[in-house]
Amino acid sequence: MKLRPVRGTHDIFGEEINKFNQISKVVSKNAKLKDFREIQTPIFEFSNLFSKPLGEHSDVVLKEMYSFEDRNNEFLTLRPEYTTPMIRAAITNNLLNDIPLKIFGIGPMFRRERPQKGRYRQFNQINFEILGTKDVLADVELISLSNIILNELLPRNKIILNINSLGDKHSLSNFKKNLAKYFNTHKKKLSNESIKKIDSNPLRILDSKFEEDIEISKSSPKIYEFLTKEAKMHYENLKKSLKVLDINFVEDFNLVRGLDYYCNTVFEFKTNSLGSQDTLLGGGRYDGLIKVLGGPDIPGIGWAAGIERIALLMESEKKINSNVHIAVTNEKFIDYFLHLQKYLSENKISYYWNYKYNLKKSFTKANSSSASHVIIIGENEFNGNFYTIKSLLTGEQKELKLDQIYNFLNDKSR
Ligand code: HAM
Repeated sequence: MKLRPVRGTHDIFGEEINKFNQISKVVSKNAKLKDFREIQTPIFEFSNLFSKPLGEHSDVVLKEMYSFEDRNNEFLTLRPEYTTPMIRAAITNNLLNDIPLKIFGIGPMFRRERPQKGRYRQFNQINFEILGTKDVLADVELISLSNIILNELLPRNKIILNINSLGDKHSLSNFKKNLAKYFNTHKKKLSNESIKKIDSNPLRILDSKFEEDIEISKSSPKIYEFLTKEAKMHYENLKKSLKVLDINFVEDFNLVRGLDYYCNTVFEFKTNSLGSQDTLLGGGRYDGLIKVLGGPDIPGIGWAAGIERIALLMESEKKINSNVHIAVTNEKFIDYFLHLQKYLSENKISYYWNYKYNLKKSFTKANSSSASHVIIIGENEFNGNFYTIKSLLTGEQKELKLDQIYNFLNDKSR
């Protein structure tokens, strides 16, 4: 059998790993600026941590979880998302004694979705959460933070912030009833998948990707009409603060998110450069969730972004390859070469050597890279105690003593 990775998984290397590292750096820097503490949780948890909170009728729970029975008859699941494990960790480690708690984490998640560009079965998320405050300024802080991070990583991409409010429990349950009623009257025009969801979870029809469902959803009742006074106020205050911060947004009354734990504020950052996998980042409030998971009755809000999706949009950074390639023509010059290596390292000049004592092969490699110069070590160089430096840009060649190399390479006019 041909050696291959599991479908929907991928190895990360080369340019992509550079982008991943850059994303991590930007995320950690901004997390520090806003005083979020990093947390890492295990990649698997007891299955019941996920099934109820994410929604027994959500796609993630119904079709996408990697669950297995351990040898001691415990049911375990590879984490499909980070919010519930983070809350679990906050509860089990008594981190909620000091609230609001601001935490973030970066790591792999697992969902058995149909793989395509921007959608994998193992993918990486950045995740930020604030536990323990109802204040709308927490919503604003998290949205503003995601805006800053995305702008820093993708300065030239058009990314649109969509927002909506799902209201509190009361608003939502009223809304669901009306929505079910509406979809029942248009049952014949819905997809078979959505028909099954009308009574169990009509919200899920609003984020269906089937054309026929999207069409019917356009004229469905809108959550805004069902918001309680308090929920409406929260939403209006959110919009007001976003305007003060000059953060552009679009209101999308059909934005409900794919997981069941949300209430009040929900938001997504979308792009039109990624085809159907167009959501870079999504999140919202989950005020009842911490209690459902066995913690205190305190509110929470957060977001997660897909690292692979961000990386797909990032422009390649200037190659971090070495500028200088070294060509050694014969093994007898090893010691002479080691002097050069030491000098280059001491002077922080990055270099590449292909471990081949062959001038032609070294030049082929150098020409196919971003190298600007090749340093040649051969008979003449060894006997004359100099190094030949050839510019790959101009073809110019120069014989230099070891201690002249740094100044030569740093001469910007060259
Ligand atoms: P989510 O919308 O399921 O939310 O995922 C967040 C982001 O993860 C998506 O916008 C997308 O960029 C990325 N993502 C999701 N599935 C895949 C996949 N199969 N392949 C590649 N990237 C993917 C959550 O996970 C919530 N826990 C977010 C949250 C945090 N809500 C509150 N706090």
